[in-house]
Amino acid sequence: MAHALNANSGYSRSGSGREAGKDRRVRMASNVIITGGAGYIGAHVCVEALSAGARVLIVDNFANSSPKAIERIREIAGESDKVEMLEADLVDDATADILAERAGRFGADAAVHLAGLKAVGESVAEPARYYETNIRATLTLIKALDAVGARRIVFSSSATVYGEANQSPVNEDGRTAPTNPYGRTKLFIEEILRDLAASAAGWKICNLRYFNPVGAHASGRIGEDPKGVPNNLFPFIAQVAVGRRDSLSVFGDDYPTPDGTGVRDYIHVVDLARGHVAALDYLARDDAAAATDVNLGAGRGYSVLEAVAAFRRASNRAIPVSIAPRRAGDIAEIYADASRATDLLGWRAERTIDDMCADHWRWQCENPMGYAEE
Ligand code: NAD
Ligand code: WQD
Repeated sequence: MAHALNANSGYSRSGSGREAGKDRRVRMASNVIITGGAGYIGAHVCVEALSAGARVLIVDNFANSSPKAIERIREIAGESDKVEMLEADLVDDATADILAERAGRFGADAAVHLAGLKAVGESVAEPARYYETNIRATLTLIKALDAVGARRIVFSSSATVYGEANQSPVNEDGRTAPTNPYGRTKLFIEEILRDLAASAAGWKICNLRYFNPVGAHASGRIGEDPKGVPNNLFPFIAQVAVGRRDSLSVFGDDYPTPDGTGVRDYIHVVDLARGHVAALDYLARDDAAAATDVNLGAGRGYSVLEAVAAFRRASNRAIPVSIAPRRAGDIAEIYADASRATDLLGWRAERTIDDMCADHWRWQCENPMGYAEE
């Protein structure tokens, strides 16, 4: 099946005309290294960057992803000559030189850095592995970029850096107090990148603090493919809806929220991916700050039960739930003040919770075992 994207016009099957007439061409960062580009969010970033006119060099060791994602990125974008792949472990010392050599030939001018480990519970059990992987991978990328004089980095940070220290909506000046090793790797990497930006002229950093990314590309060809039992709400709901699991455990219904269940700011992964294109554009501007933190969220919260109701509407499936105890480390409510993203990057989330559920559901139905089938 061919799923061609017209540059700048969006995916043809979406039919919404939402993107018509918009020029999302990446200004100067036209050759972009995308670490973790085979992963859930990275694959969508690749598609949106390609759609905006960039070439991409994906760096991934497939630790938590599949080479099939690369085929599907090429298939959706219809621009396979603009997609290069380097299979490499960014924790490995040798990778800095290999990547520098490749990045030089590629003509890299910027990077989006998504590669890393992301499971909160695993980070509590194995903190050293999390610090080593996430921080070392960042240092390897910095070395390679420095060697080729590509000094613009968009980093995948997380709203998890705020911990439970703030009232929602939370803005970027909110207190950072992550509650687990994973979250601390994100905060420490932000700090490393800020130090880098302060160290020499030319470095431009944008730390994107994602809220809760969900959904999938409208083609149904790329989406989230968690290994084992999903940790996150949407993949779990989707697996219940498709019949892979019996019911959803709702972790707590006695929070101080309207219906007692946890409230989060869910953001469609395609909106999120477009936020990266906007950030690359911003960093290419002469007046861009050396280092900036930007929330990427929809700016409103939905409860667990509201998310389940939306998924029922999209899937027309029953989705049984049972109330379970609170999950350790969870907070009652968090959603973004996303105004900086609009003011600075000209970006805002466009897709609704119903879009998120419909697209997540399409991906789940068409790929019930993720990338494993076919
Ligand atoms: P993912 O696991 O699907 O993608 C991460 C990618 O990095 C994978 O393809 C994996 O193979 C690759 N990778 C891991 N270690 C590597 C290494 N040593 N060398 C090379 N490649 C390596 O995760 P995702 O959900 O797409 O998240 C992408 C980024 O966004 C991560 O940094 C994550 O912490 C961050 N983030 C994710 C969420 C979320 O809810 N998904 C929220 C906030 C921030
Ligand atoms: C959402 C809501 C749960 C599963 C996590 C990470 C964070 C970020 C995004 C990377 C909460 C409830 C969940 C289930 C449930 N990742 N829930 N039953 O916890 O907001 O954020 O992912 O940076 O760092 O902590 O997302 O999807 O796990 O949970 O009731 O089976 O759904 O209690 O209220 P969370 P989530």
